[in-house]
Amino acid sequence: DWTMESFIELQVAEIRSKVGSGRVLCALSGGVDSSVAAALVHKAVGDQLTCVFVDHGFMRKNEAEQVKKVFTEQFQLNLVFVDARERFMKKIEGVSDPETKRKAIGNEFIRVFETEASKLGQVDFLVQGTLYPDIVESGTETAETIKSHHNVGGLPEDMQFELVEPLRMLFKDEVRELGTELGMSEEIVWRQPFPGPGLAIRILGEITREKLDILREADAIIIDEIRRSGMYRELWQSFAVLPSIKSVGVMGDGRTYEYPIILRAVTSEDAMTADWARLPYDLLHNISSRVVNEVKGVNRVVYDITSKPPGTIEWE
Ligand code: XMP
Repeated sequence: DWTMESFIELQVAEIRSKVGSGRVLCALSGGVDSSVAAALVHKAVGDQLTCVFVDHGFMRKNEAEQVKKVFTEQFQLNLVFVDARERFMKKIEGVSDPETKRKAIGNEFIRVFETEASKLGQVDFLVQGTLYPDIVESGTETAETIKSHHNVGGLPEDMQFELVEPLRMLFKDEVRELGTELGMSEEIVWRQPFPGPGLAIRILGEITREKLDILREADAIIIDEIRRSGMYRELWQSFAVLPSIKSVGVMGDGRTYEYPIILRAVTSEDAMTADWARLPYDLLHNISSRVVNEVKGVNRVVYDITSKPPGTIEWE
């Protein structure tokens, strides 16, 4: 009989035997997957684990600071916090193709880890919060990879770590159950998934600091309103997308010519398929009026009513 308790015991034993007395590095993103993976590996090998959080500059509002607080104060893990915002911005300057962006960001991630690893001395293993659906969707059954999710594909050939992927047999709901069993807070366990490249793949086309600021503010308002409505948990993901077009609007006595914000909210079991969420009109109204009034540079909000397939959840 399969229980989460026995899964933990098995995994802890497996991780210990694989890792031995080796040093382990963890790519902590603050999301559910890497957080639970880190907690599980920490349970198995304790101080042999060092977690590295890279602030690539594409995080949501206040997220980087929050991650630092939770993992140093609550979990008391060895945490290395790297402010790499400049480095990443330089790498994606002028890049507009989605897969090129992903690869640039994924590669830079690994470079940063290698740099941190070399500071720690010998590091033998890298923890990744890869889930079963990630593997299936990037798999080789179909001729083409749908998207090169950076935690599966896009790793450089010269990568020098062996991977530890303790969640590779699990679906999202099981990862949440595992996190709860490991004593993790509701806030982490129920956090909506966030892609590795973050806001970078939610700005369609070329990324600028101005666009990042607009998207970050709009996204924060959307999450705030979704939480207030009590719907945060039942949505798989809810977020803002910033396209590279502008449209005409009117505000006060003046004509405006600014960006629209695309609201995306979906329900899903595992991200393989998704349905657009039937958000209440009042909630849509609150989001629309707050985003247009509070975010400088935005004059319109539209709602994406496409399911997956044929749409994907993200726009890039
Ligand atoms: P799509 O857009 O393919 O997304 O329907 C499915 C799920 O995967 C997430 N996603 C990513 N996660 N790196 C990640 O770590 C990526 O490049 C990436 N692209 C999409 C997406 O947020 C959704 O949950």
